[in-house]
Amino acid sequence: MAAKSISIAIDGYSSTGKSTMAKALAKKLGYRYIDTGAMYRGITYAAQERGIISSGIAIDALVNMLSELSLDFRFDPSTERSDLYVNDTNVEAFIRKNKVASWVSKVAEISEVRRFLVEAQQKMANVGGVVMDGRDIASVVLPQAELKIFMTASPEIRAQRRYLELQHSADNENISLEAVAENLKERDYLDTHREDSPLVQTEDARLLDNSEISMSEQLEMAYNWAKEAGA
Ligand code: DC
Repeated sequence: MAAKSISIAIDGYSSTGKSTMAKALAKKLGYRYIDTGAMYRGITYAAQERGIISSGIAIDALVNMLSELSLDFRFDPSTERSDLYVNDTNVEAFIRKNKVASWVSKVAEISEVRRFLVEAQQKMANVGGVVMDGRDIASVVLPQAELKIFMTASPEIRAQRRYLELQHSADNENISLEAVAENLKERDYLDTHREDSPLVQTEDARLLDNSEISMSEQLEMAYNWAKEAGA
């Protein structure tokens, strides 16, 4: 089969290494990587900047804000990273911080936010040649994707990975392994029990459990699936 530009949807639980894998796969295929979690974070940050989120979310104001927002990813060749811009401002330095992380799952529950972002994501992907990662990519955003991958790993391994990641981050708050595990459990529950577009493994998705395999092994596996799917 001749290579073509397919769409690849990667979904899965938090801290399963989705974005690392999606980025590496996009690079290997010469595709564009789209981090949809960053977009939910970008909206959360924009709402915080405008005082729409403080001790709670002013939902009407947040929904009204959406019409004033434009989100796009711009590739920076010096870092080889695609940075998220909200209304022409690079927000990468802010959206990974705890202040945003602690509100983003609440923002992601709002149906108007989901509709707004799904439309933007579908536009970004309509040229093909994309690897998109998130929670609802196979089920809602790109149900026609030629390859769908659902990533998982054991809760213990995910907690351990997240714990190590936090230890090396500037936001390290001396959090214990137990607290990290508890936090992951809560996020899994929220992601899978959300009323609008919960995280599910679609029937046509390939399961990638990376508890026992290395990054290069999983990349090889996903790359082979992409080739089988026509990439
Ligand atoms: O992948 P992440 O941790 O950056 O995602 C941030 C939040 O956004 C997380 O609460 C899940 C949510 N999310 C979502 O609901 N749908 C997506 N397609 C991507 C992320």
